[in-house]
Formats: sequence, structure tokens, C-alpha cells
Amino acid sequence: MGRDEEYDRFDREIEAMGVRIKDADTVKVRSDVFDEVTLIALYKLVHRKLISVIGGPISTGKEANVFYGERDGRGIAIKIYRIQTANFKAMTDYLAGDRRFSSVRGSRKGIVFAWTKKEFSNLSRAYDTGIPVPEPLAFDRNILLMEFLGEEERAYPQLRNAEVADYGAVYQQILGYVRLLYQEARLVHADLSEYNILYHEKPYLIDMGQAVTLDHPRAGAFLLRDIKNINRYFSRYCDVQDEREIVGAIAGSKETGR
Ligand SMILES: Nc1ncnc2c1ncn2[C@@H]1O[C@H](COP(=O)(O)OP(=O)(O)O)[C@@H](O)[C@H]1O
Ligand SMILES: [Mg+2]
Repeated sequence: MGRDEEYDRFDREIEAMGVRIKDADTVKVRSDVFDEVTLIALYKLVHRKLISVIGGPISTGKEANVFYGERDGRGIAIKIYRIQTANFKAMTDYLAGDRRFSSVRGSRKGIVFAWTKKEFSNLSRAYDTGIPVPEPLAFDRNILLMEFLGEEERAYPQLRNAEVADYGAVYQQILGYVRLLYQEARLVHADLSEYNILYHEKPYLIDMGQAVTLDHPRAGAFLLRDIKNINRYFSRYCDVQDEREIVGAIAGSKETGR
């Protein structure tokens, strides 16, 4: 069977389970992303009635593809980590230093599944603390389902493309999120930038797969890097505070001496 026929069959089977596939053009994208493992995960999530519509692609990143979807009329983001991901080695390092996942080793597949679970767990901790992040809904294998941040199937813009009236205020808001994330959720985002913040009326933090607990040996260095990124971006638009003072205020003096 050719790939296209296979994905026709996939569409029919998924539709037989009551899921609507909105965008026939995405067959090509899907056939690149939806390998055997991914199809099984998708069937499981559909079977659990967590997906009722699969829509078009929102983003194709280095490690993951994000699709629009719906559950009972409510928008969801379907984030699919590719098993053949480019960044397998980096994932292993982030997992090893994090006590929650330090026992994970082995196959590429196993690492990617652990990574997906880690993003779900990180989003849950952040969400429970009241930080604006997409509400995590479920995960299975390499697929994460979360609240869709957007309107009418269009995702809110990344901060770098957003229209912001008061940069100074948004800068302070983001620093407040980073502090809450550290002090209450006990996490460091570790990939914070104008790409991983969506903006609509307020900033939202996204993309938390790489976020680590504070016991990670590089947590302090990641925090400083996050702050440097935010300062680099905002310094074009408003005054920024000294990065080491910010880190000191968030983490206490132990992280400032580097
Ligand atoms: N919950 C969401 N709601 C709306 N759009 C999202 C959501 N999650 C991700 N996206 C979109 O997909 C893009 C990539 O998602 P991200 O989690 O940053 O993955 P990557 O690892 O590929 O960078 C985001 O910049 C955003 O445009
Ligand atoms: Mg990202």
C-alpha cells in the first residue's frame, strides 16, 4: 500500500471513530509526522474521547508538530513529538539531571515518551500555580493535548510578532511569571524567549518540555540564561533590570555568584 492510500485508510478509520478530519490537504503533513507509534497514540486519545476534530497544522518545529483540534467544540492543541527527533541527545541530558525522570534511559522512543510526559507534568505544575500557560489535558506516548490558545483556529501570536502597547508592563509580568514558576512551581523554563511566549492581552508561557526542577545541576544557569534572553529582547523596547539582580531576587543569593 502506498503512503497516500495508507493515510486515506487512516482517515477512514479515524472518521469511523467519530472524529472529523477538517483539512484534507494536511494528508501530506500527516504522512510525514504520523508514524506507526503516533497513530496508535492518536487512536488511544480518540478512543478516550479526548479528540473530536483533527484540524490543520499550526507549527512545524525542530522536535514537534502542533496541530489544531477540537474536543466537544473546544479548541485544543495537539502537540506531536517526532520519534526521529533531531535533539535526542539534548533531551537525554535534560532528563538525566531531573530527579523525576533520572531513571529514564534507553531507546529513542522511550526518551521521547518521557519527554512528552515531562512537558505535561511541567505544564500541570505551572497551571496549578496560576501562571498563564495552556491547560494540559492529556498525553499518550508522544502526543500531548492542551488547551488551544487562540481564536477561531488561529493561535495567538508569539511575543515577537505581537502588538504590545506597554512593553515595560509586559516585561514585569513575564518576570513575575518566572518568579512564580521558580518559587511556587519549583521549575525553571530553560527555553524562555520571544518565541515561547504567546501574547493576547497578556503573555502566556508555552513549550515547557525542557523545563527542569530546581535540583537539576544546571537549573541556576538555565534561569540566568532565561533572564538574559528576556532582557535581550525587551532592552530594544524598554529599560531592563540587571540580570544578576533579577536572578538574586528570584532564587536568593546562591545563584548570583556565577
Ligand atoms: N497551546 C497552544 N495553543 C496555540 N498555539 C500553540 C499552542 N502550543 C503551541 N502552539 C503553537 O505552536 C508553536 C510551536 O509550539 P512549541 O510548544 O513552542 O513547540 P516547539 O518545540 O516546536 O517550539 C507555538 O509557537 C505556537 O504558535
Ligand atoms: Mg517553541
